Amino acid sequence: MRIFSGVQPTGIFHIGDYLGALKQFVQLQEENHCLYCVVDLHAITLPTDPKVLKEHILDVAALYMAVGIDPKKQIIFVQSDVPYHSELAWILMCNTYTGELSRMTQYKDKSKGEESSPAGLFTYPVLMAADILLYDTDTVPVGNDQKQHIEITRDIAVRVNNKFPGTFVVPEGRFLKEGARIMSLDDPLTKMSKSSPNPFSRISLLDDEDTIRKAVKKATTDSFDNIAYDEKNRPAVSNLLTIYSVFSGMTIEKIVKLNEGKGYGAFKKDLGEVIITALRPIKERYEEIRNSEELVVCLRDGSERAYALAEKTMKRVKDNFGLGTVS
Ligand code: AMP
Ligand code: TRP
Repeated sequence: MRIFSGVQPTGIFHIGDYLGALKQFVQLQEENHCLYCVVDLHAITLPTDPKVLKEHILDVAALYMAVGIDPKKQIIFVQSDVPYHSELAWILMCNTYTGELSRMTQYKDKSKGEESSPAGLFTYPVLMAADILLYDTDTVPVGNDQKQHIEITRDIAVRVNNKFPGTFVVPEGRFLKEGARIMSLDDPLTKMSKSSPNPFSRISLLDDEDTIRKAVKKATTDSFDNIAYDEKNRPAVSNLLTIYSVFSGMTIEKIVKLNEGKGYGAFKKDLGEVIITALRPIKERYEEIRNSEELVVCLRDGSERAYALAEKTMKRVKDNFGLGTVS
C-alpha cells in the first residue's frame, strides 16, 4: 500500500508526537511504500520567522531519520521542494466549496473569526488534500484531530472522480487509538503539546537527561498511596503508566505489580530512566545527522523521487481536466 503523512516544521517533537505518530510511521514502513513529508507550506499559514522555519525543516527531517525511518527505502522530503503540491491545490480549490471549508474546526479555532486571517488558513485543508492525492495514497496515518481534513480530502477526490472518472485514488485515514494520546505532565486532562507555555508539561525527544528527570519528578500525580491504572479517576498516574509501558514494552499490569508497595518517588525515578534509555539512540542518531551532508543528500534524493511520482499524477490530472497545451 502507498502511505503518506506529513508533519509541520513547527518545533522539536515531544514524546506525545513520537508515541502517537512517529512510532506508527516506523512500523508502517515494514510492509508499505511510505512518503513522509515535512509540510513547510502549511507552516506559513501562521506567521513564521524564515530563519527559524529553515532550521525546523531540517530538525524534523533529521528526527524522521533518527527515529528509524529509512530514507533509502522510503521517501522523506520537503513539501515545497515539489512544486506540484501548490499546483494541484489550485485545481482542487476549484472543486471545493467555501461552505465546506468554513465548517472546518481547525480553521475556526485558528482564525478566531477574524477577517484579517490569511486565506491560506482557510484553504489549508485543500493543500493537505493535494499532498495526499498527488501520490495516489491509500492510507494516511494521522491523529484524531485530522479526521475532518481526511473526510474533506475524500469528498474532493470523489467529487472529481464523478466528473472525471479515474482521476484520484480515494484514501483512507488511519487514526490513532485513544490509548495513544499522551497527556501533559502538568495537567493530565490536556494533550501534551508543543505550544504549552510550561516546558515541564512535555518531554522533547532531544531533552538532556537531567531535564527529563526533572520533568518526570515534577509531573502531577495524586494523593493515593499506591500506583494503579484508572484513567477516569486517576488520569495523571495512568498517563505516566502509559508512557512507561510504551517505552519499556512492558504491560501496564506488570509495571503495577513491580511497583506494589512503592511510592511515587521510586516509580518516577524508574520512569525517568526508562525514557532516557529509549530516547538515547534517537538523540545520538539525530546529533550524527542533523548537520551532516547526508541529511541534505537524503532530502534531495527524496524530493527527486517524490517529484517523479507527482509528475505522473499531475499529467493524468491535467489531461483529465483539459489543462495545458499538449497532453
Ligand atoms: P502536531 O505537532 O500537533 O502537528 O502533531 C504531529 C502528530 O503527532 C499528529 O499526528 C498528532 O496527532 C500527534 N500528536 C500530537 N500530540 C500528541 C499527543 N499528546 N499524544 C499523541 N499523539 C500526538
Ligand atoms: N495537517 C496536518 C497536521 O497538522 C499536517 C499535514 C499536512 C498532513 N499535510 C498532510 C498530514 C498530509 C497527513 C497528510 O498534523
